Amino acid sequence: MGDMTFKSYVVEEQEDQFEGSVKKKAIEDLPQNELLVKVHYSSLNYKDALSATGNKGVTKSYPHTPGIDAVGTVVHDFSGKFQEHEAVIVTSYDLGMNTPGGFGQYIRVPASWAVRLPDGMTMQEAMVFGTAGLTAGLALLKITEALRPEDGRIAVSGASGGVGSLSVAMLAKLGYSVAAVSSKEEEREFLLTLGACEFLPRKDFEKESSSPLLKGEFAGAVDTVGGAVLSTLIRSVKPMGTVVSCGNASSPKLELTVYPFILRGISLVGIDSQHCPMDTRETVWDRLAYQWKPDVFETLYNEITLDELGNAIDLMLEGKLKGRTVLNLEA
Ligand SMILES: NC(=O)c1ccc[n+]([C@@H]2O[C@H](COP(=O)([O-])OP(=O)(O)OC[C@H]3O[C@@H](n4cnc5c(N)ncnc54)[C@H](OP(=O)(O)O)[C@@H]3O)[C@@H](O)[C@H]2O)c1
Repeated sequence: MGDMTFKSYVVEEQEDQFEGSVKKKAIEDLPQNELLVKVHYSSLNYKDALSATGNKGVTKSYPHTPGIDAVGTVVHDFSGKFQEHEAVIVTSYDLGMNTPGGFGQYIRVPASWAVRLPDGMTMQEAMVFGTAGLTAGLALLKITEALRPEDGRIAVSGASGGVGSLSVAMLAKLGYSVAAVSSKEEEREFLLTLGACEFLPRKDFEKESSSPLLKGEFAGAVDTVGGAVLSTLIRSVKPMGTVVSCGNASSPKLELTVYPFILRGISLVGIDSQHCPMDTRETVWDRLAYQWKPDVFETLYNEITLDELGNAIDLMLEGKLKGRTVLNLEA
C-alpha cells in the first residue's frame, strides 16, 4: 500500500513565509517506523499552531505536517504490540514536531508512542482531550495529591483555552471550587457552565506589583499562560499551596522573589506531557475515560475538517478559540 495516497495538511516554507494547505501524500512518504495508523481524529493544540507558522523551536524543517495528537486504527504493527484494527491514541513524543503528525490521514510512529484507546472512551472523546487533556490530567494528579477540595479555591488561568477549560471542568467534577481566570468576559457563562464558581478577569492578574507576597486567596492554581499571571498566582496562594505551571501562552518569563517559597511553603510544580512516562500516561488516560470525564463534554469542543484547519490555527494564535478544536479526518 506504499503508493496509496491520503490527504494531509502540509506547511511549506518559501522565503521565510509559511503557508499551509491540504495536499496528497503517499504512505511511502512517512518515516519508516513500526506502527502504521489510519487517523480518524486529531485535535488542535497551541504547539500545532506554532509548528504551522514556522516556529523552529517546535519544527526544524519544512515541508511538514503538524498535529501532536492522533487517534485511529492500527493498519499494521511490526513490533507485535498492537493488533490490526485496534484503536490507539498517539500524543506528544515527537509526533507533529519533526515527525509527520495527526493533520494527515495516516501516521507511522514507534509503537512505544501509542496507548490503547481505553474502554469507555470514543475516538472523538480521546481527541476532545488530546494533549490538552493529558496535560490537564497531569495537573489534576498534582493538585489532588497536594490539596483537598476543602482547602480552598483553585485558580485556573487561560481558562477558556484547551488545557484551561478541561482543567476547570475536571477540577469542578472532583468537587473543587474553581476560579476561572480569563481575558474573555464573553465566555463567563461558558466557564460557569463548565463548573467554575467564579469568573476573574485576567487583567487583574497582569497588574504591575513589586510586592513579594499578595493576599493569600487560593489554595492552589493551574497556570497555562506564564509571565505576570503566573507570578501573581504564586504570590496569591495561601501557605502550603501548590501551583502547577503548564504553559506560556503569554510569556515564558517569571519574575518573583523566593518569599512565596520560604515564607509560605508554596510548591511550584511543572508539567511536561511530552516526556511523561508511559505508566503515568496510561493512568491519566484511564481516569479521563471514567472518573475524571467532564459531565459537560458536549460544550467543550468544536469539530472541524482539514479544509477549516488554517482558519482555526489563525484564531488560536489570536487567542480567540474557545475550549477544544477536534479535527475530523474522515469528513
Ligand atoms: N506542559 C505541557 O506539557 C503542555 C501541554 C499542552 C499545552 N501546553 C501549553 O499550555 C498553554 C495552553 O495551551 P492550549 O493548547 O490550552 O492553548 P489554547 O487553547 O490556545 O489556550 C490558551 C489560552 O491562554 C490564554 N491566552 C492566549 N494568549 C494569551 C496571552 N497573550 N496572554 C495571556 N493569556 C493568553 C487564552 O485564554 P483566556 O482568554 O481565557 O485568558 C487562551 O485561550 C500553551 O502555552 C501550550 O504550549 C503545555
